[in-house]
Amino acid sequence: MTIERPTEAALDRAATRLARGELVGMPTETVYGLAANATDPAAVAKVFAAKGRPAVNPLIVHVADVTRLAEAVAWPLDPTAQAQLDALTGFWPGPLTLVLPRARSIPDAVTAGRPTVAVRIPDHPVALGLLARCPFPIAAPSANRSNYVSPTRAEHVADGLGQDVAMILDGGPCRHGIESTIVAIGGPDGPRLLRPGAVPAEAIRDRLGGVLRIENVSTVTPHIAEVSRPPDRSSLPSPPPASGAAEDASAMEAPGMMGRHYSPRTPLRILPPQGPSGDRSRCGRLAFAPIPESEASRYALVSVLSPSGDLREVASGLFAAIRELDRRGLEAIDVDACQETGLGRAIMDRLRRAATEE
Ligand code: TXA
Ligand code: MG
Repeated sequence: MTIERPTEAALDRAATRLARGELVGMPTETVYGLAANATDPAAVAKVFAAKGRPAVNPLIVHVADVTRLAEAVAWPLDPTAQAQLDALTGFWPGPLTLVLPRARSIPDAVTAGRPTVAVRIPDHPVALGLLARCPFPIAAPSANRSNYVSPTRAEHVADGLGQDVAMILDGGPCRHGIESTIVAIGGPDGPRLLRPGAVPAEAIRDRLGGVLRIENVSTVTPHIAEVSRPPDRSSLPSPPPASGAAEDASAMEAPGMMGRHYSPRTPLRILPPQGPSGDRSRCGRLAFAPIPESEASRYALVSVLSPSGDLREVASGLFAAIRELDRRGLEAIDVDACQETGLGRAIMDRLRRAATEE
């Protein structure tokens, strides 16, 4: 495996590797993706095996531009879906994933046998450069092992999946740092938020003329959580077999149990409104904005995500900071909470999935 600067020549090599059925670490504006030719079932199988991802959890398919949507989506769309798509294409390229009826060329392995496919156009020059060179769409889940924190830097991909990828294109730190927002459109249920993400749900609802079901997304979402336990690099566990149910079991039935079973890791706790209590001298603090010295001094380590509490900065540094704190042998990590509107909805969704259940 090599980590390479995304020169034209490196992009050409990456495209060749994808065409051969190999896997490539690909930067996007949200998180790094584990890229494979979406039309090649054998390549897609490698993605599931490398991540230890259960076969029931479908992948997101990336396309170069709207003119190539039909490579992933059943075309033409019905008029309702088409109208909703038209209302939302202004978010592309960008961190919005739409769930639509799937094209025949997309194999069952990608969609976990569903009749729908999740598709997006990423807003990153390296991802777009790679897509432009490929005569096929690219399936790419976040390039972390299942149940671990998503990668926002090339080194994160190497840490978790270095043995499984042919090469990693280094696009630097991801701008948004949090995954795309997933919305199902068309269909009898109307537009529905399936996963909060980097595009605020409110902005999507506005474009849809106020029609978007967003309520209780964290508890009712069919999206299967991955962010759970940050890995301890010194003792990375083997991924569970692809046929296992690690992701959905940990997310839906007993959050944290799989992580506890597979990996020593630092428990993460979302701070209650009244702030920290008890002895925090062996704990870390992940703060959204600077905290008073009287509070900071209670912790072994404090990591501040934004000088002004700007949630865009919080999101972009969140996963890297969790990984970093997890290396420090801390007893626990206390993390701030924010209002669950706008980007705050996605931040709190990820934190709840990463947090220790009391
Ligand atoms: O920002 C992102 O979306 C990143 C970058 C790499 O593009 N990708 C990403 O992929 O977050 P992943 O695999 O970590 O998350 C994909 C989510 C999963 O929760 C999966 O269950 C959901 O998308 N999904 C995929 N296909 C679906 C479908 N047909 N219906 C409903 N949910 C779907
Ligand atoms: Mg993921």
